[in-house]
Parts: sequence; structure tokens; C-alpha cells
Amino acid sequence: MNNYYVNDEGYYGEFGGAYIPEILYSNVESLRKAYKGILNDPEFQQEFHTLLTDYVGRPTPLYLAKRLSEKYGCRIYLKREDLNHTGAHKINNTIGQILLARRMGKTRIIAETGAGQHGVATATVCALMNMECVVYMGKTDVERQKLNVQKMEMLGATVTPVTSGNMTLKDATNEAIRDWCCNPANTHYIIGSTVGPHPYPDMVARLQSVISKEIKKQLQEKEGRDYPDYLVACVGGGSNAGGTIYEYLNDLRVKIVLAEAAGKGIDSGLSAATIQLGTVGIIHGSKTLLMQTEDGQIEEPYSISAGLDYPGIGPMHANMAKQGRSEVLAVDDDEALAAAMELTRLEGIIPALESAHALGIFGKKQFKPDDLIVLCLSGRGDKDMETYVKLRIEN
Ligand SMILES: Cc1ncc(COP(=O)(O)O)c(C=O)c1O
Repeated sequence: MNNYYVNDEGYYGEFGGAYIPEILYSNVESLRKAYKGILNDPEFQQEFHTLLTDYVGRPTPLYLAKRLSEKYGCRIYLKREDLNHTGAHKINNTIGQILLARRMGKTRIIAETGAGQHGVATATVCALMNMECVVYMGKTDVERQKLNVQKMEMLGATVTPVTSGNMTLKDATNEAIRDWCCNPANTHYIIGSTVGPHPYPDMVARLQSVISKEIKKQLQEKEGRDYPDYLVACVGGGSNAGGTIYEYLNDLRVKIVLAEAAGKGIDSGLSAATIQLGTVGIIHGSKTLLMQTEDGQIEEPYSISAGLDYPGIGPMHANMAKQGRSEVLAVDDDEALAAAMELTRLEGIIPALESAHALGIFGKKQFKPDDLIVLCLSGRGDKDMETYVKLRIEN
């Protein structure tokens, strides 16, 4: 039987590993040695789950979206990660990692952010735990996600705009890694997705797996069975998808459909459809699929959604796609915008642009009337209001 989890060497099939500069070796190595022990420690688990319950507002509802289901002729449940404190799934991971950083004696936190959701979630837990916080964010994203920049600053974080490359998530991640190289002793780098060197992809997936643990319990209560026919999520680096599927990875009754960003079209040269367009290479410490030229230069990605605008993909997802465990559909800007508008008008829920890509799969794939689908609604649309309004998608 296939195993889609990480192996002892930090690989998912041929993908993963830890390709890092010498200066970070001892940091990443001590994290690798410590993370499972800390995450499995009952005291950690208790503190983590108390905060998830009382501070984040978990469990998030599993909502049967009746009008959306009617429209697409199947049963669609939405896992409402948009209702978490700070508005997305990102906080599940930052709560876990800040507790871990404290246990490892770190006093300073750095993070990268694209849509700003991970930056806000990191700034939030740093305020909560009274830790210094520096967030790197591409200048393009600083401009398109202004509200989140204002929130991070109000929370006491220093937001450092990054002006290299096309000034988005990849470039912010480069800067955060550079900072970590200069401050390896006191600083913990809270990576916001299932990317980066081992053990980050596995650690983030484990922290986000609370999503699928809840789905199991909630489906049992609502449907009398603890698994759906399909799980659907968008993939940027892969953390909301990773959390949504974690408990079902080896359960082949459950089909996995993922949406990546096709930007202005998969063949337009302006997309972030990494799984379909990527080839094997190394980015941010991990061997994975990435968008690159024939001579190995990273191609600049593009998506209307800042959180999906990344030229790589977590190694877990690269492996699953390669093994045929997941079906990956590319959803373009216009399809995502139309799906966002549709959910808003059918269900009264304004989704984040990232989550709207997941919703975009219903226009591309046919389901049967008794198919039971759980879609991870990873975040709310507040941060994207300027984009929505600017594009005048009133009707
Ligand atoms: C609401 C939301 N969904 C999804 C993503 C994509 O990240 P990931 O693939 O790690 O879930 C982001 C990233 O910023 C986000 O803000």
C-alpha cells in the first residue's frame, strides 16, 4: 500500500529533504530532533487544544451548503476555517509553532507572508506570547493586502516590504531565510505552509491536521459515516489542503481534488499552476515541483490570489500528485472570481480569493447526486474586498 506520509529521512517519495545552507544546519537539525517529541507531549497537546478551543474558536463548523449543493447536484459541506480567529486556517499552525518556539528557548519570531493571513496569525500569537515579531512581505502583496498589513502593525509586528523578484511570496520567503541565517540562535522561523526543509512540511501538516480530525467526528455525527467521497481544497504551499486530507491520506475511499491557481490561463505564461507546469527542483530548502526555466531559473508566478502566488508546492503534494493520489485542477482568476460571487450570493458567505479557487472546481468537474463532498473554506474574504470591489463583480 502506498504511504503518503513523510519517511524517517524527511522525504515523500522522491520529494522533500532539507537542502539548507551550513549556517542553518544546527537550527534545522535541533528542530528535526525535537518536533515530534514536543508535538506529542501531553502538556503541549493540552495547551495547544485549549488555545484552539478558547482562543481560536475551534471546532469550526461543518456546514451543509444547501443552495450550492442544489446548484451542482451533489452534497457539499464547507469546513468553515474562515470562522477561525484572524479569518483563516493559518492560526492553527502559528499557535502550535509559537508554543514549540517557547519550549525551544527562542525569543524572536520571523515569518513570511503572501496574502497576509499567515503574517496576521503570526503577529497575533506573538502579541499573545509577548515575543518580538518580524514579517517579510513582498511589496506587491503589501499593496494588495493592505488591511492585513495594518493589522500586523497594530499587533506590534514589524512588516518589512521585500522589493526583489516580482515582490511576492517567493521573495518574502527568501528574505525570511536570509534573516534566519543571520540570527540562528535566538530566532524561530514560523513557516506558514507545508513547504521548506524537513521537518517543516510534516510539522505544519500535523498542526493543521486538526481540520481533518474534526471533519471525521463531524461527518460521523451528521452522516453516520466518518469519511466523505471527496475532499476539496486549494493549494498554495499546501497547508489547508494538507490539514484537510491528513487523516484520510491512506484511505482510498476518499478522493482528493485540489485547486491550484491558473492565473490568466495555464498556457498564458502568467500562472501559479505549479503541479501541472512544474518540474523537479529545489526551492526554499525542499526538493519539489517548481516552475522553472530549462536552465533552472525560477519562473515568476502570477495569480490574482496572493496566497496562491508561489512557484513551488509542498513536497507532500508533489508526491501525491505524482502517485495519482490527488487530482489537481487549475482554476484561473476569472473562474475564482465567479465562484466567489456565487458562494456570496447563494450562501451569504464571502470567501477569501484563495478559497474561491477551491470553489472553482465545481465548474470543471461533474459529481453524482449522492456524492458527499467536504470543501475546506480556508479563509474569509475581508482582506480581498478591495480586489472584489475594484473588479466590480456586483452581479
Ligand atoms: C485563506 C487562505 N487560503 C489558502 C492559502 C494558501 O496557503 P496553503 O496552501 O498553505 O493553505 C492562504 C495563504 O495565504 C490563505 O490566506
